[in-house]
Amino acid sequence: MSKIALFSAKSYDKEYFERFKPSEEVQIRCFKSALNEDTTELAKGYDVVCVFVNDQISETVLKCLKEHGTKLIALRCAGFNNVDLEAAHKLGIKVVRVPAYSPSAVAEHAMALILTLNRKTHKAYNRVREGNFSLERLTGFNIYKKTIGVVGTGKIGKAFCDICLGFGAKVIAYDLYPDKELESKGVTYASIEDVFKKSDIISLHCPLNSDTKHMINKDAFDIMKNGVMIINTSRGGLVDTKAAIKALKKHKLGYLGIDVYEQEEDLFFHDHSESIIEDEMIMRLISFPNVLITSHQAFFTDEALEQITTTTYQNITDFFNGKELKNEVKS
Ligand code: NAI
Repeated sequence: MSKIALFSAKSYDKEYFERFKPSEEVQIRCFKSALNEDTTELAKGYDVVCVFVNDQISETVLKCLKEHGTKLIALRCAGFNNVDLEAAHKLGIKVVRVPAYSPSAVAEHAMALILTLNRKTHKAYNRVREGNFSLERLTGFNIYKKTIGVVGTGKIGKAFCDICLGFGAKVIAYDLYPDKELESKGVTYASIEDVFKKSDIISLHCPLNSDTKHMINKDAFDIMKNGVMIINTSRGGLVDTKAAIKALKKHKLGYLGIDVYEQEEDLFFHDHSESIIEDEMIMRLISFPNVLITSHQAFFTDEALEQITTTTYQNITDFFNGKELKNEVKS
């Protein structure tokens, strides 16, 4: 029997984790709080700690978890930049994740951001509701024949390339490991500099690590086309937000669509509508008419939630049955 402490729990986590419970013997306790140094006490007595993108699993947190009896960290997401893997390894705590939960969900959301920013459907919706049927300032551009640069062509990037090819765009890409199948479909691989220089739209689908942190920075903006559109559905730290704000002010950056943000931990997934938001950068971003922000919802489809839940339960069951952990994340 496994006892699971699920952190950063929302109503939908509760619903799906109850619905797909593999047996009545599994005990699951949902905590609204995120896991961090202040909340590790809650995990006392639970073998498994189940966490999401903004829980902070630092060395200090891991040491406390170890003392409290945690044996397994089950990430219910793909990215693992929020876990100190080396510390987990040293402490003998295994880490598993959900490597793919509907890449199409994220790829489709990236295209939704592009279409909304470009064709301004969010503005049209509001205008029409107020009886304003004017087309002034709603001009967009055709995606057909535009150059879309894709950084990272793993599972999500690949699904995104397919969507872009369907729109008749020219797709150029950068990845450490070019994908032969994509090349056969017409995607051209290029250096990161060429992707920055030649693209009308750039969409980020690579992980956040020390090589990719702030890959979209002042130097990158300097070589991009004027009026370029940048879409980030990957991780906030890929974009240097201060540099992006400067580029927006100079009209270098024509459109910015983000589902992730460098300092999202204290903001995203929560209702702050009655609070004073202290984060000046997000408030500045919100003030631009050509910036569209969603709060880490790219994955948020029925299919993805089901996949996240069932894979997480499978990872936990495999761990307790001593089976090979095919979704283990190693340092
Ligand atoms: P993946 O592991 O299948 O693909 C990542 C690709 O990035 C690989 O092809 C890899 O070779 C490439 N890559 C690694 N380092 C690179 C570099 N320095 N430059 C260019 N490419 C590089 O991962 P997947 O499933 O496609 O996910 C991509 C990212 O999307 C994840 O790391 C995660 O941060 C983010 N994500 C966001 C979600 C959301 O709801 N907004 C949901 C799921 C994932």
